[in-house]
Amino acid sequence: LGAQSAGDSPRGDSPSSSVAATALTVLYGSQTGNAEAVAELAAERARAKGFDVTLTSMAEAGKKTLKAAERLLVVVSTQGDGDPPDPALEFHELMMGRKAPKLTGTRFAVLGLGDASYEHFCQTGKEFDARLTELGGERLRDRADCDVDYEEQAEAWIDEVLASLAGDLKGAPLDSAALATTAAAKEGAQAQPSYSKKHPFMAEVLTRQPLNGRGSDKQTLHFELSLEDSGLDYLPGDAVGVVPQNDPAHVDELIAMLNLDAESPLDEGRVLRDALLTDFEVTTLTRPFLKQWAQWSQAPELQRLLGEEARDELREWLHGRQLIDVAEQFPVEGIDAAQFVAALRKLPPRLYSIASSQAAAADEVHLTVAVVRYETHGRARNGVTTTYLADRVEPGDRIPIYIDHNKQFKLPDDDEAPLIMIGPGTGVAPFRAFLQEREERGSGGDNWLFFGDRHFRSDFLYQAEWLKWRQQGLLTRLDVAFSRDQADKVYVQDRLREQAETLYAWLEAGAYVYVCGDAEFMAPDVHQALLDVIREQGGHGEAGADDYLRQLQQEKRYQRDIY
Ligand code: 2AM
Repeated sequence: LGAQSAGDSPRGDSPSSSVAATALTVLYGSQTGNAEAVAELAAERARAKGFDVTLTSMAEAGKKTLKAAERLLVVVSTQGDGDPPDPALEFHELMMGRKAPKLTGTRFAVLGLGDASYEHFCQTGKEFDARLTELGGERLRDRADCDVDYEEQAEAWIDEVLASLAGDLKGAPLDSAALATTAAAKEGAQAQPSYSKKHPFMAEVLTRQPLNGRGSDKQTLHFELSLEDSGLDYLPGDAVGVVPQNDPAHVDELIAMLNLDAESPLDEGRVLRDALLTDFEVTTLTRPFLKQWAQWSQAPELQRLLGEEARDELREWLHGRQLIDVAEQFPVEGIDAAQFVAALRKLPPRLYSIASSQAAAADEVHLTVAVVRYETHGRARNGVTTTYLADRVEPGDRIPIYIDHNKQFKLPDDDEAPLIMIGPGTGVAPFRAFLQEREERGSGGDNWLFFGDRHFRSDFLYQAEWLKWRQQGLLTRLDVAFSRDQADKVYVQDRLREQAETLYAWLEAGAYVYVCGDAEFMAPDVHQALLDVIREQGGHGEAGADDYLRQLQQEKRYQRDIY
């Protein structure tokens, strides 16, 4: 699903018949653009069939959108702990609240996007699906809960929903001339080489440099990849998707534990070991996998853990455990290679916020990668993609990548607008891109960076670059928080609070606030610090501060790229 698909499809959008076309509303709630891309594809396919499609983001939707929607397709993703995407928060609240409109007569279907390794998998999709029924809607088709490898399932869902609506189509279907134009347009689009998640570009690794100094307890790497001859374009705020390979040592250990043969043939002439290296996720546990394993192993303990009463216990138990731990603790006998592989999900690419601007590094894309290594339950754990990049990729090698455009994290068009950038750890990556871009564009707006990491001496990522920009005046202010250089922890949010007065003055002057990095602790803490600053400095109450920040969010003056 290219993000560039659909909505702008130029021809054949409405049927040539004079009868008013059958209306269909496609409503999406999207954080990173995946749900939007699925919605666009649904809209495109529906138009091709002759529906009169209205494609709307939940950010723009209200009661009217729903009341007008006789036929409604909802595509929505779920964030970490079961929350709606930021742009969908308000609409979600409206829908779940007492003021939600009656939807008698609305026929709907919901597609949820999520990650099956999370407890609240596709929670937001499930909520919409249940609520639409409560409000009187009629379900056209069962909800689809799509995992990270969502593409095929999403396409199938779209086709099935549209097939079930085919009887509604009034007037003539697209005449053959219009269909031919649509087909020709599609072919034209395909003729241009374009790399995507499904067709990644093999990018040469030009540089791999450590960003931490001696004595650091962290390993953060700077990568420069060549985009030469790829035709790939990106903007500051976009991400690179890296298609990784699993650790061969881990794959071999798993195969041995399962008593399988590494060379067992699978479909399409592949053998088990190769498939496990490149195609399937063999570390992260998902609930569907656990259920399958409980059935195969018939292990009473695993079956108990999957029971409704053991929810909390299961969450606790899963902490720090991976697929290999399950295979070890609950031995399974008699499954073959094909059965095992069928229980796995596809190896999902990992996204890295881009650390360069194409204006400055034309044919290159730069990444900032914190290498994940830790130990749990007596076993060494290695982040799949980060250790692939750190340990098994050399300059000169080529690695499969694609660009993941992120509309939710973009520089303002206004070159004079002040920026407040908050990015501890690898969260600083996109701000290197922002500043490169602003330098190239000669933007006059003020720029303020908040950076944090463990130690000043070893972990001040890209220190020389910030200091150079600080000296040149491009970086107006630089505040750093080195958490482990003193007895008490100091974090970026402490610096925000210290600078409350100036910070609020910047907000009042129209500043854009960007937060990038840890979603679990940092981003909520920074959010709270911003609320506190606004409350104290602006003389707002709690609700007033909340409204102020929401308003910023609505105006796209508060954008987050958190993971
Ligand atoms: P710590 O690991 O010393 O606690 C980048 O990882 C930096 O973010 C580190 O200095 C880390 O500090 C810090 N950090 C950890 N938790 C944080 C939080 N809740 N808010 C902000 N920064 C945090």
